[in-house]
Amino acid sequence: QKENYLQTYHKFDFDAKWEFDRDKLTLDTTLGEGEFGKVLKAYIQEIDKDNSIRTVAVKTIKTKNNSVELLALLSEFQLLQEVSHPNVIKLLGACIKSEPPLIIIEYCCFGSLRSYLRLSRKLEEAGDLNIDGVEPVTATDVLSFSWQICKGMSYLADIKLVHRDLAARNVLLAEGRVCKISDFGLTRDVYEDDAYLKKSKDRVPVKWMSPESLADHVYTAKTDVWSFGIVGWEIITLGATPYPGIPPQNLYHLLRSGYRMERPENCSPEIYMLLEACWADDPMKRPSFKALGAKFESLLGKCA
Ligand code: ADE
Repeated sequence: QKENYLQTYHKFDFDAKWEFDRDKLTLDTTLGEGEFGKVLKAYIQEIDKDNSIRTVAVKTIKTKNNSVELLALLSEFQLLQEVSHPNVIKLLGACIKSEPPLIIIEYCCFGSLRSYLRLSRKLEEAGDLNIDGVEPVTATDVLSFSWQICKGMSYLADIKLVHRDLAARNVLLAEGRVCKISDFGLTRDVYEDDAYLKKSKDRVPVKWMSPESLADHVYTAKTDVWSFGIVGWEIITLGATPYPGIPPQNLYHLLRSGYRMERPENCSPEIYMLLEACWADDPMKRPSFKALGAKFESLLGKCA
């Protein structure tokens, strides 16, 4: 079994500088669990920084000797080594030379953007103002989250990395409500099952996918832009599920016949125009993340 592990490990080209001593890692509770793996809360003692304890998140596999899970984890590790942006989840280290393999990433205290939005909606409905630092999402927050996601995605597009599963569930919210794009890799993990349509062995996040991804399994920066439009809609609706009441199986034909989600009540026509632009049938007609980011930045300037 050890041989098997090392065989897979050697398919990758990992930089040894990331290797972390697993004895210095204290694992805690499960933060999330999916089809291919799980994420745990953990702590490391920072020797260089007056021995303070840092909370981190650790990604690992659920089943030993499962090559699919292992490949998913190692390919995510591979990708994370290459990225560095304030709005993209940061790799801190890995325990990968021995089993079980762990990758250590920054901890995001508010969890997923989707859960934050839904909690904030509940607070608003209850007339509560603050629980565990979660505050009702304001119009400025909507613009700020959208702008931050555009910046992270613009960076990924610049380094030619296509995400393929951009959704509010895959954006994490760190201290200061900083958005961090996460969960990219060759094999996607599934944290909220109902969003993914079971199709052969793959689960596909149909409601976030562009028509060309649904039809031909093509993924480009422009299909990420389509998904971003759906994320914008999720933010404005405080975490509603896209295309309410529409079964995923019917979506492709609806989209091809020109159907799009209507403007949510609390969405300005100006922002709705941006979302609609992301959902252009012709991928070339969709805006770039740079252009979208500039738009949100200027809208933010106006409400500051
Ligand atoms: N859930 C999944 N990844 C996480 C992270 N990095 N921080 C907090 N919660 C998470």
